[in-house]
Amino acid sequence: AAAPVITLDGPGGVGKGTLGRHLARRLGWHLLDSGAIYRATALAAVRAGLALDDVDGLASLARELPLRFVEAGDETEIWLGDERIDTAIRTPEVGQWASRIAALAPLRSALLQRQRDFQQAPGLVADGRDMGTVVFPDARLKIFLTASVEVRAARRLKQLMEQGSSASLATIAAEIAERDRRDRERSVAPLVAAPDARILDTSALSVAESSRVLEGWVVDAF
Ligand code: C5P
Repeated sequence: AAAPVITLDGPGGVGKGTLGRHLARRLGWHLLDSGAIYRATALAAVRAGLALDDVDGLASLARELPLRFVEAGDETEIWLGDERIDTAIRTPEVGQWASRIAALAPLRSALLQRQRDFQQAPGLVADGRDMGTVVFPDARLKIFLTASVEVRAARRLKQLMEQGSSASLATIAAEIAERDRRDRERSVAPLVAAPDARILDTSALSVAESSRVLEGWVVDAF
């Protein structure tokens, strides 16, 4: 039988990355950070001088992208060829580029199999926007996270500061709101909860509290 999958979808800054990592570690499962794939593709495209609406160019770049996720102890290193790009892909600018190319259907198709290849024993926690709706529609447990824009912007700011970058809260909130709108309104694989997803609003919850809820759902589902 295929390895079990838990999908974790939701808008930017909602805690998918952190909660997904905790859950994957608790279960001893693999983790797919699908947003990092879109971000890496966007970064590579801009560096290659491709226009962000060059559908064919972007799709072939995506198919050939030498992207590797290397699990190293507590963290996952992200490599593009022989360069580590973990930090470079986390900027708000790359996030904007990613959400622009993510609206293109051929680009999304080109990345589909790369994402499905992460479904391996003993199991997979997959985080993104369309994990439960498009990439893993048969997942045993589908989770959709929400939180207010204000809360998400504050979390992002904290993350950026921990990485040594800075930005204003207002700038981050505006960036998140714009990316949300683009992700929700696109016609292909829009950001929306799967009909069979369980929904958790994390606005008022700590990471530990949210984790506890998710772990309860895992126990129910498996
Ligand atoms: O989650 P993250 O902020 O890293 O995602 C960056 C962008 O990539 C999102 O704003 C979205 O446009 C796109 N994305 C997507 N589908 C996914 C994951 C990310 O369209 N499964």
